[in-house]
Amino acid sequence: MASQLLAKKPLTTIMAEAADTGEHSLKRSLGPINLITLGIGAIIGTGIFTLTGVAAAEFAGPAVVLSFIVAGIGCVFAGLCYAEFATMIPIAGSAYTYGYATLGEIIAWIIGWALVLEYAFGAATVAVGWSGYVSSILAFFGVKLPFNATPAVSFSLFGLAINAKVDIFALAAIIIVTAVLVIGVRETANLNSTAVIIKVSVVLIFIGIAANFAFANWSHMLANWHPFIPQNLGSFGQYGWSGIMRGATVVFFAYIGFDAVSTAAQESKNPQKDMPFGILGSLIICTILYILVSGLLTGVKNYSTLMSPAPVADGAAAIGVRWGIVVIDIGAIAGLASVMLVMLLGQSRVLYTMAHDGLLPKWVGKIHPRFRTPYLTSIAVGVLVAFLAAFFNLVFLGQLVSLGTLLAFTIVCLGVWIMRVKQPDVPRPFRTPFVPLVPILGIIVCLALMITGTTDAKIVFVIWLIVGLFIYFGYSRRHSTVQLEIARASSGSARRPAP
Ligand code: ALA
Repeated sequence: MASQLLAKKPLTTIMAEAADTGEHSLKRSLGPINLITLGIGAIIGTGIFTLTGVAAAEFAGPAVVLSFIVAGIGCVFAGLCYAEFATMIPIAGSAYTYGYATLGEIIAWIIGWALVLEYAFGAATVAVGWSGYVSSILAFFGVKLPFNATPAVSFSLFGLAINAKVDIFALAAIIIVTAVLVIGVRETANLNSTAVIIKVSVVLIFIGIAANFAFANWSHMLANWHPFIPQNLGSFGQYGWSGIMRGATVVFFAYIGFDAVSTAAQESKNPQKDMPFGILGSLIICTILYILVSGLLTGVKNYSTLMSPAPVADGAAAIGVRWGIVVIDIGAIAGLASVMLVMLLGQSRVLYTMAHDGLLPKWVGKIHPRFRTPYLTSIAVGVLVAFLAAFFNLVFLGQLVSLGTLLAFTIVCLGVWIMRVKQPDVPRPFRTPFVPLVPILGIIVCLALMITGTTDAKIVFVIWLIVGLFIYFGYSRRHSTVQLEIARASSGSARRPAP
């Protein structure tokens, strides 16, 4: 029984399926700079544009800078492990595929189920952040709508944070992105490059404006940075060192997406050299940008005033640069749209693969005859994500996403270590350095970030995993193509007469 739960999908099968779909023959055209661009495109989003404000205001104060550093270090360890898997199983897979090939079906299921949190709930989180910037630009031009698009009032129901108002903009964003996905996205590479240029420019513009202000108003900055680590208010996570850790679990969201680089392993010209360059390069560039933005923002505006749907634009407003507000708002709106697209695209790919493996019903993988997209999944996920985006608050959603992603990262780190011991001879174009030290450090940081998450998100996360296990034991295990294959093989050998 346990061995069936840990049934593995043979690498040869995975490679053959990839060859069938043409994945295997993807052109090796990406150089190191392309990989860095890919990473930055997926990484910069609601994390820096919105969650920075919440993390500083509610948990870490100006020390949110340290939160960004802690979360960034954890991602570097996990990124190095991702790179080894990505080159060892060189198809456009994800942690789910790595898990299925190496650790077994139930682990793969848990990773896949956690990835739903990463992508679907992630898209909802980004949609809420997007809505904040739409409201910000409308407010700038004096447009006041009869409804409040930003989730200002929240209440808790059985530990769930629910908004008292429906976030219409977030809802609309998900409907539009879902429609785009159903019709089919072409030219994603160009779209991504444009989004990267816009996002990085906007971030640099804010850094420029704020640094200029800082040089002229140094005493104002120092006053806001003091105390750098506000005293803990008596409970875990409310400032102090525990606040820095909780802040790190919140801003961890800002780094999610670098795994996109590893999934492009088979398109990389020289994975051995370029994968670590792409993963670490995009992570380091984003970490530096994040430290500068969060450091300057908490200097420009006191951390206690940063609880806002559009804190970076508010920073420009506090400096008095009106054009900066508009530029940041427009940049965030364009940049976050591309993150939603990438996340929902990733979501449909993971669900499609799981359905193909028999772990989810067939209809999940059904392809539209004309658009050639998994339209039913995209629509079902779109409805779920739109609901989440409309009713739940940003921190709660972001925390759930972080928990799901951290679990997937932990398993990937563990997987690299296990595979080095169990299958040392499998070719690995990229080898994670210092195994098992790097995987162990990755596991420690990821688990620490999970433990320091908010309680309501942790409760819902556990419920999510339990629901996932019910589905696995109720449906997936009995329909899994790998399990059916094992059953067929063993009944065949049972019927064969003994020699
Ligand atoms: N890292 C991405 C963001 O911050 C998911 O929006």
